[in-house]
Amino acid sequence: MEDQNLSCQTFSKEKERLMGYSCRQPSLTINTGRLSKYMLIFVALTTSVLCFVLWWMGTFEFQRIPDPAFVPQVLTSRHNFCAFRPLSPEEAVEEEFILHSIAWPETPPVTLNFSLQNTTDPSCSKFTILPKVGGGQWSIGDQLEVSIIIKDYNCHPKTSGGDALLAHLRNEALDAGVSGQMVDHLNGSYTAVFPLVWEGRADVQVTLIHPSEAITVLRRLNKESLDRVFFRSVFRSGSVTETSMCNVCLRPTNMPVCNYTDIRTGEPWFCLKPKNLSCNARIIHSMGGYLPALKPLEDKLFSKVNMKVPILASGSSNITVLPYTKGQVTMNSTKVKFRPSGFYYKGVWKSLGVTQVYQFDTQSIIQCLSGKVVHFYGDSTIRQWFEYLNKALPDLKEFNLHTPEKSCPYVSLDYKNNILLTYHCHGLPIRIRPIPISQLRYIANELDNIQGGSNTVIAFTVWAHFGNFPMETYVRRLLSIRSAVLRLLARAPDTLVVIRTGNLKSYDVNGAINNGDWYALQRDRALREVFKGMNVSLVDAWEMTLAHRLQHNLHPAPPIIKNMINVLLSYICPKHR
Ligand SMILES: *[C@@H]1O[C@H](CO)[C@@H](O)[C@H](O)[C@H]1NC(C)=O
Ligand SMILES: *[C@@H]1O[C@H](CO)[C@@H](O)[C@H](O)[C@H]1NC(C)=O
Ligand SMILES: *[C@@H]1O[C@H](CO)[C@@H](O)[C@H](O)[C@H]1NC(C)=O
Ligand SMILES: *[C@@H]1O[C@H](CO)[C@@H](O)[C@H](O)[C@H]1NC(C)=O
Ligand SMILES: *[C@@H]1O[C@H](CO)[C@@H](O)[C@H](O)[C@H]1NC(C)=O
Ligand SMILES: *[C@@H]1O[C@H](CO)[C@@H](O)[C@H](O)[C@H]1NC(C)=O
Ligand SMILES: *[C@@H]1O[C@H](CO)[C@@H](O)[C@H](O)[C@H]1NC(C)=O
Ligand SMILES: *[C@@H]1O[C@H](CO)[C@@H](O)[C@H](O)[C@H]1NC(C)=O
Repeated sequence: MEDQNLSCQTFSKEKERLMGYSCRQPSLTINTGRLSKYMLIFVALTTSVLCFVLWWMGTFEFQRIPDPAFVPQVLTSRHNFCAFRPLSPEEAVEEEFILHSIAWPETPPVTLNFSLQNTTDPSCSKFTILPKVGGGQWSIGDQLEVSIIIKDYNCHPKTSGGDALLAHLRNEALDAGVSGQMVDHLNGSYTAVFPLVWEGRADVQVTLIHPSEAITVLRRLNKESLDRVFFRSVFRSGSVTETSMCNVCLRPTNMPVCNYTDIRTGEPWFCLKPKNLSCNARIIHSMGGYLPALKPLEDKLFSKVNMKVPILASGSSNITVLPYTKGQVTMNSTKVKFRPSGFYYKGVWKSLGVTQVYQFDTQSIIQCLSGKVVHFYGDSTIRQWFEYLNKALPDLKEFNLHTPEKSCPYVSLDYKNNILLTYHCHGLPIRIRPIPISQLRYIANELDNIQGGSNTVIAFTVWAHFGNFPMETYVRRLLSIRSAVLRLLARAPDTLVVIRTGNLKSYDVNGAINNGDWYALQRDRALREVFKGMNVSLVDAWEMTLAHRLQHNLHPAPPIIKNMINVLLSYICPKHR
């Protein structure tokens, strides 16, 4: 009796949790012969009260929301019908800082009767290569600057900024490429800065992603049409099946709503309640579709003429780069305005950072991954990595979980070489074919369930499914993932955490307004801000798609994936060769 009681008291809360509150229904073996009836009742009462208290504490402990703490949250008036994950006071300050640091310049208003004539015209706009500061010929290590003047269809210079422009240098014969950095002077002129990293010719490429007026529209859509991408859930109980609409940003309604806000992360999610079934009967999530969101004429701002089109040079568009000469300013100088994460040379991605990128063939991939568990989390753009490795390793076999194609989860095992790979989707709001609710897990929660260690590699990406939501939705998702990464690195500091950034993609008007490059660019900047200074490694998919000769694609082509995998493996096996 005493033993039982003692063991009940000394149960750590952790154990209690693991053992399913075994105190709740104590199975006592008591020698009733020596105890009076009252004594027995007293003991039984005491035990059950004690156990109830312990159970209650256990429950409380179990349901405790991990860092960051919940605080009451007043929804911002900026996005009147979206729910946001509550933030701790520190996170709220950081969110403000991030939103401020990535703020896009003011862009011209777009009224119902706006005149296309007055909007950015890439064919009238031109760039000019600026002469080298101090004169002389270009050589490796120099910085090239290019001035871009944006004009409208009347060929009048624009007087405000905010055009979405990208630039890179390339040399087709050498299969070389490097990203440039764009500086907006807010007066219709822009400067692109490039490092010169290979010898020979370098051709300047400037691309108008969107006219500034299109950015005005993209911004409006993310205030007014937050539910233009919609989702569905299937509810089922017995033979009754119903389907209803779901979203993070669910419009106010008089109908009853089911609240699926995640208890651990605080990530919000709502569905209209089915008529005849309970909220608990939700079994399947899927992409619903897209609602029309553009006003008349606005589609003219997203056409073949002014979306993702090159801007040409007035004068020469190329330079010749000479070998590095001793004593000149180099990439290592503090005068360097922009240092990309890497560049292509002969089709191979070279790092400009601290980690060298090695080339891995089948044998060296096996050697590198032997004994490792690699967990991939995110959208289909990281599923590509999982698929690439599955093809590359002959002994890696996918375990049949009966998961349909282009879905999740997937698991592959190379029993011979002791390699385990898994792929899980990131949680809601994922645009996906019908998937069981049980497979929708937030990355932060997944990371909390991982032991970690030197044999564990975590690689995740979160970007492609967030474009149509307010920046806060994305920033808060990242902050919650970062908290989980910090907890993971605190308990297992030698876990390798790799983040794949977003990338450029090809699109038409619908692709642009639902998840175009401008949305991705803004989120990419937020991602870098959130994970700055952390012991995590980036695979810079943004630059790797910008600098590559192949066309932009949501799912980058195999030569790009191969380079990404080499970067990933170089992080995992930095001492390779
Ligand atoms: C466009 O419409 C606004 C009202 O919405 C009006 O004030 C303005 O004069 C119109 N502009 C043109 C060029 O028609
Ligand atoms: C458009 O440009 C023309 C000529 O540059 C100008 O006269 C007109 O006022 C502009 N319209 C708007 C709405 O800015
Ligand atoms: C725009 O601003 C830049 C930087 O301040 C300046 O160098 C340039 O002369 C300005 N261009 C025009 C057309 O005002
Ligand atoms: C949904 O549930 C969460 C947590 O249970 C709660 O904080 C939030 O206020 C609820 N939202 C709505 C709109 O009821
Ligand atoms: C709910 O149940 C009623 C009565 O069985 C039926 O008439 C109705 O069609 C059901 N509604 C839905 C949405 O399934
Ligand atoms: C390089 O620039 C020169 C003018 O400086 C031009 O004649 C030549 O066609 C350019 N080459 C390419 C491939 O654009
Ligand atoms: C830049 O610095 C790295 C080491 O920090 C060195 O290996 C490299 O040679 C330097 N490059 C130049 C061009 O000075
Ligand atoms: C950073 O992470 C690596 C594993 O990726 C680990 O080996 C290293 O000790 C960590 N460094 C610090 C300062 O925690």
